[in-house]
Amino acid sequence: MHEHAAKRTKDGKSLWLLHITDNHLFADRSEGRHGVNSVDSLQRVLASATKTRQPDLVVDTGDIAHDRTREVYEMFLSMVREFVDCPMIATPGNHDLNKPFDEVLSRDSITMNGWQIISVDTHRDDVLNGMVSEEELNRLRGELEANTSPTLIVGHHPASEIGCAWIDGHRIENDVEFLQQLSHYPHVKGYLSGHVHQAYDGHANGLKLMTTPSTCWQFKSESAEFAVDELPSGWRWLELLGDGQIKTQVARLGVSEIRRNRL
Ligand SMILES: [Fe+2]
Repeated sequence: MHEHAAKRTKDGKSLWLLHITDNHLFADRSEGRHGVNSVDSLQRVLASATKTRQPDLVVDTGDIAHDRTREVYEMFLSMVREFVDCPMIATPGNHDLNKPFDEVLSRDSITMNGWQIISVDTHRDDVLNGMVSEEELNRLRGELEANTSPTLIVGHHPASEIGCAWIDGHRIENDVEFLQQLSHYPHVKGYLSGHVHQAYDGHANGLKLMTTPSTCWQFKSESAEFAVDELPSGWRWLELLGDGQIKTQVARLGVSEIRRNRL
């Protein structure tokens, strides 16, 4: 699974990473939830995001499929391929299932333009909350000791509270152990995740912590109870600089695009 592939970006400078997450695709392309069609919304996100630039790398942090069949993962891959031809790392979420996910998508770490991007599996099939297994922590340790390039870790569940009480309970159960392990390696610069369908930017243990809006429906931030937000679908750009810094910005569909997205 986790084999390294060394690649250079086209301009040899910053690495432009497009983060998409929580696509929740259904086998029936007309389906959605909370008034948003998942397929249309992902297509518009990919079209909008790639209008200004082509990414060097796409990362998807899971909950790709609501209907967890091989066909849905294949549909996802072909949708992404309509808009980008760069490498992609995907990591599963609580809605995904290992078997069909791994038949279609790659979780392999990648080293590109001096940066190392490593996916961590925070999910267990059919379990809502996150957890990083001992086996996964050991694999991570091995990869971080083998390569001391500036590193971004990507996974589905957040590794800290984000101030949204009901969904904070789903975060990685062994979050303290996970973040402590990462903080042993100063070349780890950030942890990028999904699951929360909202944007968050924070810091812990010297790491930049980021979550990104879903490519479909959104959850209200700073909410004690489950609540859907009317904010448009979104994505995140990360510019990974040669000196190990991360510049990042969240973007969302425009108002005219979101209207067309409605079911
Ligand atoms: Fe999730």
